[in-house]
Amino acid sequence: MRAVVCREYGTVEDLVIDEVPDPAPGPGQVVVKVRAAAVNYPDVLLIAGKYQIKVPPPFTPGSEMAGEVLAVGDGVDLRPGDRVSGTTFLGAFAEQAVVDAHGLTRLPDGVDYADAAAFGVTNRTAYYTLRTVAPVAPGDWVVVLGAGGGVGLAGVDIAVLMGARVIAAASGPEKLEVCRQRGAQALIDYDREDLKSRLKEITGPGGAQVVLDPVGGTYSEPALRGLGRGGRFVTLGYAAGQIPAIPLNLVMLKGITVVGMEVRTFATDYPDQIGRDDAELADLFAQGKLRPYIGARFPFEQTAAALRYVADRKAVGKVVVDIG
Ligand SMILES: NC(=O)c1ccc[n+]([C@@H]2O[C@H](COP(=O)([O-])OP(=O)(O)OC[C@H]3O[C@@H](n4cnc5c(N)ncnc54)[C@H](OP(=O)(O)O)[C@@H]3O)[C@@H](O)[C@H]2O)c1
Repeated sequence: MRAVVCREYGTVEDLVIDEVPDPAPGPGQVVVKVRAAAVNYPDVLLIAGKYQIKVPPPFTPGSEMAGEVLAVGDGVDLRPGDRVSGTTFLGAFAEQAVVDAHGLTRLPDGVDYADAAAFGVTNRTAYYTLRTVAPVAPGDWVVVLGAGGGVGLAGVDIAVLMGARVIAAASGPEKLEVCRQRGAQALIDYDREDLKSRLKEITGPGGAQVVLDPVGGTYSEPALRGLGRGGRFVTLGYAAGQIPAIPLNLVMLKGITVVGMEVRTFATDYPDQIGRDDAELADLFAQGKLRPYIGARFPFEQTAAALRYVADRKAVGKVVVDIG
């Protein structure tokens, strides 16, 4: 089978597509014939050797996909031919992927592979955040930074579903227009407008209740300043390339809570909530109430171009690689 391989840390253009042996499942594992895989920003960081977890090359990147079960290991309750989707740390940009069975979900009828592949990582990140880490109530003002990106747009969708009033902050009219179509009530082009004063203008003196921040950089502090008393600031990632330092007096003066959320450690950090959150999210997906916005699709041979598109800040919503 063919697989995208990172032979050494570098740019996405250094990736190659290699012919590699077909994988075999171990106990509790499944080999999936990958039909579609979705790009996540951490894939780019991993390939550059800049992710918080270092994987020694060679490795195949790609952390979410959908396809058909080809083979199962001992103790797995799935059959060849079953349609599944799942998240995995590595290996999704390949014609076949070996995945732990517990990381897979059966696809509801009628759901296509691209939607299923593009759903998991960003929606879980946003759902865990808005349901459990910084619970949102109807009517709350929720500020989403990088609102046109993968995590951001999932945050917009989920906050809208929860009845919140969403303030989408992003660069440029194209991303903001998609946020508007997905239900955001207010839009801020944070590269052209002053984020802090626009937030005050929109929310009035009460300020916002929650900030969801997958971007970091110079955007975090003005967003935090837009929170009202007792507001919650959730730091999720640093796509802007810079980890911000926040003056703690801002946190003290308004009794703000700053909290981090990491999708890979959520199960350990919130063992009593993960089952409920996953079940609710699966239900919303099965009922068609939540679907990822797929802004671009690339063929397997152009996986590097798909990753470049995300790295260069061009993506709106999710980017999918069609594999088989
Ligand atoms: N905590 C978690 O569990 C978790 C889970 C998944 C992802 N993440 C993190 O969340 C962040 C976003 O991931 P994603 O998959 O949503 O990525 P994405 O789709 O590329 O979205 C990131 C957004 O960041 C903004 N941005 C600002 N400056 C940027 C720059 N210099 N380069 C690239 N983007 C820039 C872009 O929006 P504008 O152009 O509108 O500014 C872009 O839409 C990443 O840091 C990722 O590691 C965290």
